[in-house]
Amino acid sequence: MEKYLINPNQPLSKINRDIYGTFSEHLGRCIYEGTYVGEDSPIPNVNGMRKDIVDALKAMGLPVLRWPGGCFADEYHWKDGIGPKEKRKKMINTHWGGVIEDNSFGTHEFFELCRQLGCDAYVTGNLGSGTVQEMSEWVEYMTFDGVSPMADLRRENGSEKPWRLKYFGVGNENWGCGGNMSAEFYADQYRRYATYVRQYSRDNRVMKIACGPNGGDVNWTDVLMKRAGGMMDGLSLHYYTITHDWGHKGSALEFDDEEYALTLASAYQIDDIITRHSEIMNRYDPRKRVGLIVDEWGIWHDVEEGTNPGFLYQQNAIRDAIVAGMTLNIFNKHSDRVTMANIAQTINVLQSVALTDGADMLLTPTYYAFALFRDHQDNTLLGSHLTTPVTEIDRRRKFPTLIESASMKEDGTIVSTIVNTSLTESAEILCQIADRRVTEVTAEILTGDPHDHNTFETPDKVKTTGFDAFELTADGFTATLPPCSVVKFLVR
Ligand code: AHR
Repeated sequence: MEKYLINPNQPLSKINRDIYGTFSEHLGRCIYEGTYVGEDSPIPNVNGMRKDIVDALKAMGLPVLRWPGGCFADEYHWKDGIGPKEKRKKMINTHWGGVIEDNSFGTHEFFELCRQLGCDAYVTGNLGSGTVQEMSEWVEYMTFDGVSPMADLRRENGSEKPWRLKYFGVGNENWGCGGNMSAEFYADQYRRYATYVRQYSRDNRVMKIACGPNGGDVNWTDVLMKRAGGMMDGLSLHYYTITHDWGHKGSALEFDDEEYALTLASAYQIDDIITRHSEIMNRYDPRKRVGLIVDEWGIWHDVEEGTNPGFLYQQNAIRDAIVAGMTLNIFNKHSDRVTMANIAQTINVLQSVALTDGADMLLTPTYYAFALFRDHQDNTLLGSHLTTPVTEIDRRRKFPTLIESASMKEDGTIVSTIVNTSLTESAEILCQIADRRVTEVTAEILTGDPHDHNTFETPDKVKTTGFDAFELTADGFTATLPPCSVVKFLVR
């Protein structure tokens, strides 16, 4: 029996709801087909946005959406995507599949999508191949309410009022596709570009996010914090889970037990990576003013056979949901520093929450993991500890069998999410909550064979169900968690 202690007398950080964000890039079928089908499409839509997708993302509680890239952002010229659609420039999306980008989804469409979703906007600007003026004017276009060339242009294009822009990224992966810069060079560029990302409204202070490290590159974090820490509100971090290596990432659906373990060990490394970056940030920013923004994370599998390799389309199984649950628990535990995260990506690309095929749409196991964790949004993280065995592949690669986080809502309800990563063993747990008389526990579960997934023929094979393999005790509960499961408990 594993012992699980939750301490409501130990309130820790606030779990920023933006940890549960997603990322949508002009890549493959994420935006076009997956989200935006145009007003004239036979697929049910509101102002061009797929109704099924908007409804699903709202039900998942999507708090924030990052756009337009990714690598695409540092080649994107925003003025190509405004004004009458028939006059918008067509271009080749050189990064992703070499397809024609007709710019029919631009700034106005993005904010319309956010309006329909009821979520906040995170826009990433072009530092790699754009000018300071271009970036500065985009922010003016989006956020200025007064008289100015860009605000007037926005009005001409049909939006009288500025939009609420919560976050603005000053470049993306500038150590790679965003210009192949050194940390020192980017830090100075960041200072220059960010200077002209003006605050145009007292009611809409735009939070500026600097491009952060690739995985474990702690030198990048050190240089950025030292040279530019005072001028940023967030530093981004990108980390992708890879089963083997970048040349042979591994299949989304065909994998054996050993590969399952490799995937989980790769995913679990994000805990250590966040800890190491946080330690550096703590030196320069002990009051934790600057957030660590994990604005790209998720599993990167080999593309599905027969699909465009530049479209990064992959299926999504229970294994992906286990990784999502593990990672979201890790983010919760680091919520003193991690204040936003965006899974890559929202629809039809990498570890998506939904897949589409023409008019059909399915929700992935990852979607259901996000929906389960929704109850943590904006809660107070609590001190908690669960004993667990650990699988050690070698000195560097390991992962726990059980991983959890617990938080408290304003009304005192305790939310606990536990992932049992074991392929074969149920886990017996005894949960004790300090100074609490427990009167009611409800629970939901997502579980199955790690290969289980939804298809367009069987879209409901994998989904969340009620869970009742638990018993109340005076100060908590006992429960039996099946292998390969993500379970959420609500304790009152
Ligand atoms: O998410 C796909 C790509 O991965 C993004 O465009 C880029 O930022 C990262 O390398």
